[in-house]
Amino acid sequence: MQAYRASLLRFDDAGQPVYDTDGLLVVGPDADGRQRVQDAGAHAEVAARHPHVAVTHLPGRILAPGFVDMHIHFPQTDIIGAPAEGLLPWLENYTFPAESRFADPAHSASVAEFFLDEMLRNGVTTSLTFATSHPQSVDAFFEAARRRRLRMISGKVLQDRHSPDGVRDETEQSLADTESLIRRWHNHDRLGYAITPRFAPTSTDAQLRGAGELAAKYPDTWIHSHVAENRDEVKWARELFPQARSYLDVYAGFGLMRERAVYAHCIWLDDADRQLMQQTGTAAAVSPTSNLFLGSGFFDFEGADRIGNRYGLASDVGGGTSFSPFATMMAAYYVGREGQTKKGVSIAPSQLWWRHTGGAARALGLDGVIGNLQPGCEADFLVIDPKATPLLARKTALANNLEELLFSLIVLGDDRLIERTVISQQAGAA
Ligand code: GUN
Ligand code: ZN
Repeated sequence: MQAYRASLLRFDDAGQPVYDTDGLLVVGPDADGRQRVQDAGAHAEVAARHPHVAVTHLPGRILAPGFVDMHIHFPQTDIIGAPAEGLLPWLENYTFPAESRFADPAHSASVAEFFLDEMLRNGVTTSLTFATSHPQSVDAFFEAARRRRLRMISGKVLQDRHSPDGVRDETEQSLADTESLIRRWHNHDRLGYAITPRFAPTSTDAQLRGAGELAAKYPDTWIHSHVAENRDEVKWARELFPQARSYLDVYAGFGLMRERAVYAHCIWLDDADRQLMQQTGTAAAVSPTSNLFLGSGFFDFEGADRIGNRYGLASDVGGGTSFSPFATMMAAYYVGREGQTKKGVSIAPSQLWWRHTGGAARALGLDGVIGNLQPGCEADFLVIDPKATPLLARKTALANNLEELLFSLIVLGDDRLIERTVISQQAGAA
């Protein structure tokens, strides 16, 4: 057992913050040797329960759960900041050419290594990430994640039409590859597989049907796609699938909405769509830096909350502009203020933080596993230095309460705040 003494940020079951200015986090192995939070709370109380534990004292630091990025593309690391008129030209001119390079396993491996190092430097300990249509990109990613002992979710992209040579796959082979990748990687160590149709316009009915069949056959895998991001995309999807009530409903028709299904963006939805999300347990990945960069639109936080949708925050790199959760939380705040419907919600800093940690974990079906520092959670956590820059030191010293402190970190923070990212170890693992 090992304990860490510092300020300690956790969340209760309702997603409200619990903060101990002088806290103690006790970490130790479970019956399988996996490092988990054993105890957490005010130092005076927790220390009394563990009189012999070794304590690392981190004065002035904040311990917080590792961030969870609900939607990102590891193969798009090199196309952050690629300018385009909107989503569809961006895909054609930058994304597909960049992704075609992942046919090369060595390129896949080198980008996967860089990507994971960058995520950890920014304090992100779990992500749901697209690979490319090449199975070797999935192998490269999971091998790199396994070496770092990370909890990561990924999958081979399915795209058998309306895609150029180099990224387009073949229907039968793509489904066979998906099933063999599920068998190779899903639930091995801390890795999870996501069945990943790119978006409805780039899959045939047969591919979407096959994806839905695999999703039924392997019910604890994830489903990961995009929906209702951009107005031209929505128009195209409506033309291709005229029988569906809405773009989102296309996925429902192929059995692709259920618990552990995650759709990025969800901007151009109506209330019937939101009801469908809610009834099926499907989650939205909200990607504000991407939506602002590509001019896609504004996620309707008020609408999602009114219907009770599950959602969490996501960078969507490389449409998104930053690996940093602080940039994503800041952008989510701006989007909430402006709002698609101009109603303008002011999201509390602790709620932005929750949507990128415990709330995102809950939307992924990983409540109590990651994204929090309550007893039983896997011990993926951050050591945050609130004095990382002169301005942060000055500003955080003036905070009168937790919300003011968290807002200072969100508004002024970046990777410099993350002094250390601690990953749960597994005793006896090779
Ligand atoms: N829709 C289909 N593919 C993509 C992608 O790679 N990025 C984004 N942002 N939207 C998509
Ligand atoms: Zn995306």
